[in-house]
Amino acid sequence: MFFTLAIAPAGVHAQEREKAAPTAATTQPEVKTAGQAFKNIQVLKDIPADELLPAMGFITSSLGVQCNYCHVPREFEKDDKDKKKTAREMMKMMMAINQTDFEGRRKVTCYSCHHGMAEPTAIPLIGAPRPPTMREAADRLAASGAKVTVDQVLAKYVEALGGTDAYKKLTSRVSKGTLERSDGIREQLEDFAKAPNKKLTVFHTPNGEAQRAFNGTVAWNQAFGRPTRQISGADLERIQQTADFYRDIEPRMGYRRVALIGLAKVADRDAYVVRGFTAGAPPQNLYFDVENGLLLRRVAYEESPLGLNPIQTDYEDYRETDGIRVPFRIAVSMPNSGYTVLLDQVQMNLPIDDAKFDPPAAKEPAASGKP
Ligand code: HEC
Ligand code: HEC
Repeated sequence: MFFTLAIAPAGVHAQEREKAAPTAATTQPEVKTAGQAFKNIQVLKDIPADELLPAMGFITSSLGVQCNYCHVPREFEKDDKDKKKTAREMMKMMMAINQTDFEGRRKVTCYSCHHGMAEPTAIPLIGAPRPPTMREAADRLAASGAKVTVDQVLAKYVEALGGTDAYKKLTSRVSKGTLERSDGIREQLEDFAKAPNKKLTVFHTPNGEAQRAFNGTVAWNQAFGRPTRQISGADLERIQQTADFYRDIEPRMGYRRVALIGLAKVADRDAYVVRGFTAGAPPQNLYFDVENGLLLRRVAYEESPLGLNPIQTDYEDYRETDGIRVPFRIAVSMPNSGYTVLLDQVQMNLPIDDAKFDPPAAKEPAASGKP
C-alpha cells in the first residue's frame, strides 16, 4: 500500500541533510545550481543544488564509507582531506569514460568499479554472493509458463486489499506507530492521510517534533522548531505520490505505463515483478505475491547526477481494518541506512480538518514574521 512516509522522513535523512544544507538556504526554494548554493563546487557546478546531496549519498554507498571519509565534519566546503580531492578526479574520470565510450549515457558509475569498497578490487572474488539480476527474473517468468497479464496482477492486488468498492468508501486514514532507525533510535509517529491527496506525518523524536506534509499544492517540512522549508524537486514528486490517497486502486496504480517483467523471490515468497513507469523519474519495481496478490516490495530509485540511489520498501504483516488490508510493518532500506515502521493503530474515516495539512506560516497571520 502506498502510504509510506515518503522516503526521507524528517527524523531520518533530513537531519543529515539539514546539517549539510547551504547556509544561504531560505524557506522558499529557488532553482539554484550547486555552484551557486554551495561554497566550493568545482565539478558538479551546473547540477541543480538539490541534487548535490543525492549525489553525495550515491558516492557514500558506492564506496561503503561515511561522509567524514572525505569531509571535515560540518565544514563540507573544506578540501583538507585527500580523499575528497581524489573523489573530484574520479568524477571527472567517470564523466569522461561515459562521454567518450558510452555516447554520454551514464553507464559507468562509481559503483561499477568500487562495489561498496573504498579501494576497488581488480581481482575477481571467490565465493562472493551475487544478487539475482532482472534478466534471471524474466527467464523465470518465461520458464514458469504463467499466462498472467499485468492487468490481472494489479486487479488481484486491488481485490486482496479489499476491493474497489470498499476502498472508495475511505476518506481518511490515521496511523500511529513507532519508527525504528537502523542506528537504534526510535521515534513515535502519527500519519494523517486524507482523500484525494493530503498527507501529514508527525515524528516525535528524541530531539523534538518534526513534520512533513503535502496539502494538495505545497509540500513542506518543519523540524525541531526551525523555520518551515518548502519541499521541491524529486522529494516533492515522492511526497505527491505517497499523498495520492487512492493510488493503489487507480488504473495502472497511477503509473503512466506498467509491464510484467519477471518472477522473483521476496524472502521465501514467489512474486511477480511489475515495472511502473512515471514521467521524469526512474521506473519503480513492484513485487506482488503470486499466491495472495498483496504487494510485498517496492523498489524506487532516486536520481542523482552520479547514479541512482535505490530505496527498497517491504510491506509485511497485512491486517484488516474496516474491510481494507493495511501493512502494519513497513521496512525501508537504503544502501547505508534504513528504518522500520511498526504501526499499532490504523483508523479509517476520522474527520480531519484541511488546515492541518497547510504549512505553519499559512496558519498564522502574516504579521508573525518574528525571528
Ligand atoms: C568519496 C568522497 C566524498 C564523500 C564520501 C562525500 N562527499 Fe561530499 N563532496 C565530495 C566532493 C569531491 C565535493 C566537491 C564536489 C565538486 O567540487 O564538484 C563534495 C561536496 C560536498 C558539499 C558541498 C560543500 C560546499 O559548500 O562546497 C556538501 C554539503 C557535501 N559534499 C556533503 C556530503 C555529505 C552530507 C556526505 C555524506 C552523505 C558526503 N558529502 C560524502 C566528496 C565526498
Ligand atoms: C573505472 C573505475 C573507477 C570508477 C568509475 C571510479 N573509481 Fe574511484 N578508484 C578506482 C581505482 C582503481 C582506485 C584505486 C586507485 C589506487 O589504488 O591508486 C580508486 C580510488 C578511489 C578513491 C581513493 C580510495 C583510497 O583508498 O585512497 C576514492 C575516494 C574514489 N576512488 C572515489 C570515487 C568516486 C567518488 C567515484 C565516482 C564519482 C569513483 N571513485 C569512480 C576506480 C574507479
